[in-house]
Amino acid sequence: MIADTLKSLIFATTLALATTAGAQNRTVAEALQAKQQGQPVAAQHWMVSAANPLAVQAGADILAKGGTAADAMVAVQTVLGLVEPQSSGLGGGAFLVWYDAATATLTTLDGRETAPLAATPRLFQDDAGQPLDFFAAVVGGRSVGVPATPALMQEAHRRWGKSAWADLLTPARRLATNGFEVSERLAKSIAWDADRLARARDTATYFLPDGQPLPAGVLLKNPAYAATLADMAREGADIFYAGPLAFQIVERVQTANNPGKLSLFDLAIYRVKERPAVCISYHGNDVCGMGPPSSGAVAVGQILKTVEGFPLATLGPDNAQSWRLIGDASRLAFADRARYLADSDFVPVPVQGLLNNAYIATRGALLNRTTALPETRAGEPEYDHGMNQADDISLELPSTSHISIIDSFGNALSMTTTVENLFGSRLMVGGFVLNNELTDFSFASHRDGRPIANRVEPGKRPRSSMSPTIVLRNGKPVLVIGSPGGSRIIGYVAQTIIAHLDWGMDIQAAISMPRLVNRGGTFELENTAFGTEMAPKLEAIGYTVQLGKIASGLHGIAIGDELTGGADPRREGIVIGQ
Ligand code: GLY
Repeated sequence: MIADTLKSLIFATTLALATTAGAQNRTVAEALQAKQQGQPVAAQHWMVSAANPLAVQAGADILAKGGTAADAMVAVQTVLGLVEPQSSGLGGGAFLVWYDAATATLTTLDGRETAPLAATPRLFQDDAGQPLDFFAAVVGGRSVGVPATPALMQEAHRRWGKSAWADLLTPARRLATNGFEVSERLAKSIAWDADRLARARDTATYFLPDGQPLPAGVLLKNPAYAATLADMAREGADIFYAGPLAFQIVERVQTANNPGKLSLFDLAIYRVKERPAVCISYHGNDVCGMGPPSSGAVAVGQILKTVEGFPLATLGPDNAQSWRLIGDASRLAFADRARYLADSDFVPVPVQGLLNNAYIATRGALLNRTTALPETRAGEPEYDHGMNQADDISLELPSTSHISIIDSFGNALSMTTTVENLFGSRLMVGGFVLNNELTDFSFASHRDGRPIANRVEPGKRPRSSMSPTIVLRNGKPVLVIGSPGGSRIIGYVAQTIIAHLDWGMDIQAAISMPRLVNRGGTFELENTAFGTEMAPKLEAIGYTVQLGKIASGLHGIAIGDELTGGADPRREGIVIGQ
């Protein structure tokens, strides 16, 4: 007993010294303790924040050995795909924002899944042309787009990596071979989804051995995943796009219940795309993120630009007027998103028009009042040619994961990664789950005779809400942030940026603060004392409110004299830095 007390005293003293110095490499235990205390982690040289301690440790080990943020991301992502398979992995897709310190440039890479060439706008409709029930569309092969995360990891490593590719896969290979403890969150996800996981044989065998959901704490091995990583270590990510693994993916999708149309040709022609970063200026900062096919940077940018002229900093987070401004700016952004945002390789998207000062001024002028806007509609931004589109019907449920990394060279990486729904399509190949990303398309293709921008089309990428963001000041990164959460991601990221930049919260406090999100209808408030207090105030000014559980999963790093990192207390993630 005395020995235990002594041990915790020594531990606490070590931690206190590490916190004061702000320059110690934190172990997982130290990082967990910092998280419990709600403190940001401080460091000088490098930092990684992501959704699972094993994944963060893998990334930290690479950074400590002089690897780049791109190297560390490969280690983090491959471990996440093993220990948090409900959210992201090799069968999914991701968007990556990269700040390159050597050239002071920002690059965004689109690793989004694509629809098969055989897909039609009626992919998610029944014989009468009516939208399918969501889960009838999701579970099985129909919803599976070309897996893109392997190609994205390889492309990021090719551009910015320094470490040997095979070494980056070793932590995940080792864990898959030797086993890892099933986390509380994974166990809960399996139990919650057991009926759907039971529908595909390999998936059921892995997650429901003897027909029972895996409990937390049990040691789980994934030899198939280890074998996939061994092949990938030797031959690169190309194994996903041609050869036996590609064949297995296609076969699994085409022969599943609710089969899909993915072909070997679809896999063979997949390419990661570099896209122009979408940046807006906000109170002297440049807030930069992922453009179409993500709606993330446009919507986050519209929200920030719309509230920029209002005194949010003075009003503060306790004033319902702050939330009215943020909430209604968000409703306006979501109205535009529904009308205009989709894959810009297929549909002209007025990105500049939606963000230009004159247009934003017309939207901001609508907020010059003290009560909720009675209704919000898409605006009419400048277009380079005429369009006649209808608002979409898309349902995005929260899953996904976010990774933020700064390396010792000063590079910054913000990557949001997903298999879309919990465990994606529920199909497994090679030890990983295949995405259901295609259900991020609008199920309806037309409304009142007008086409919907985000309708399914062959080879198109479904619209996303993922908002991996890097905020720059004077050309240098000051904040790396992003979150899972389906279409709520946009609100989570905008709120966290405002909390940090306008309300002066440290990164952990900004991430931890209660969430308030308005995507166009009900004002959703996280069920906390703050939410309970704010709800009647928002009702009094005209909103319908709903208190409930809100599962953001923000991971962020602020860059000032030192690095400070935060991990969302709603998820299992931690921050390690040195
Ligand atoms: N599937 C989540 C997103 O792309 O926003």
